[in-house]
Amino acid sequence: QTKRWNIQREQPDHQAIQEAAELLQNGHTVAFPTETVYGLGADATDARAVSGIFKAKGRPEDNPLIAHVATKEQLRGLVSTLPAVAEKLLELFTPGPLTIVLPSNGVCADNVTARLSTIGVRIPEHPVARKLLKTCGLPIAAPSANISGKPSPTTADHVWADLQGKIAGLVDGGPTGVGVESTVIDCTQDIPVVLRPGGITKEQLQAAVGSVMVDPALANTADRPKAPGMKYTHYAPEVPMWLVEGALEKIQGVIDKERDNRKRVGVMASTETADKLQADQIIPLGSDLREIAASLYDALRIFKNGDVDLIVCETFPQIDIGQAIMNRLKKAATAYVDN
Ligand code: TXA
Ligand code: MG
Repeated sequence: QTKRWNIQREQPDHQAIQEAAELLQNGHTVAFPTETVYGLGADATDARAVSGIFKAKGRPEDNPLIAHVATKEQLRGLVSTLPAVAEKLLELFTPGPLTIVLPSNGVCADNVTARLSTIGVRIPEHPVARKLLKTCGLPIAAPSANISGKPSPTTADHVWADLQGKIAGLVDGGPTGVGVESTVIDCTQDIPVVLRPGGITKEQLQAAVGSVMVDPALANTADRPKAPGMKYTHYAPEVPMWLVEGALEKIQGVIDKERDNRKRVGVMASTETADKLQADQIIPLGSDLREIAASLYDALRIFKNGDVDLIVCETFPQIDIGQAIMNRLKKAATAYVDN
């Protein structure tokens, strides 16, 4: 049985948070909202508790988890050094959708870091996450609260659909905000390296600390990525998805051809594009990149086997949060159509 609490985003109810925090303190798994996606939390200092996360999600053990904390002091307690560039990033972007990879001091259980010498740390900004972290007083290991391979959850219902009965608790604090996961930046080298694009953009990071590199694996999917999680199939909808680059007529052409082949075609596109396309099921994602990021994972979960045979999704400019959107779409897609 999974205990579910409904609470107000801005006024986290004390009783619910208290109960959820106690479950965490007692070594159980609890899902909770952050400003990016829902996380599935467990006490990061307790290897047995952490193994419950891997088990519930069906997550490969070689994919390290992010340790979530309420304060910078707590964060300092998990790392062996805090380079100046990391200090600066913390000062500017946290609390917020940024995860910093630093040398671990071994306080967290070694299955949190998949036995790497480094650890990803993050101070979320969502009021419910903050209250829960403060109340339990522990570093909380938390990957996205979905079954491994599925789109990350942006609502409590997504979590419920995937993990009901497999976790001890779910704090429902409404839909998350950003909609794609935190930016992961490795600060263990002289020049920081973005391992996963996310809520904080490369442009924002460069403006803050000067030079920032991007993991070459993000451009070339053939290379083995440094964020171990990036090598797995991710964000997959129930039915195949094609990413189609090009003008409106071209996208419509691809849809028409498949419908002529008796396929039922679903479409995901910006509201502007969606309004002009014809298909069997159309999900408008929003009118700007921020809105599109916020609705992306919900859209991927809406298309059901039996309703459509194929999803066609347009491509988006790789600027601002568009980098994160395209990174996730490329992982979700079964084909990229660009000729
Ligand atoms: O927004 C988020 O980051 C959400 C919320 C719940 O905070 N969490 C999340 O966790 O997306 P997860 O486990 O789904 O993704 C963590 C990513 C993975 O790609 C993982 O490989 C990478 O961060 N990562 C974690 N620790 C790392 C480390 N020490 N070195 C390199 N990559 C690391
Ligand atoms: Mg994930």
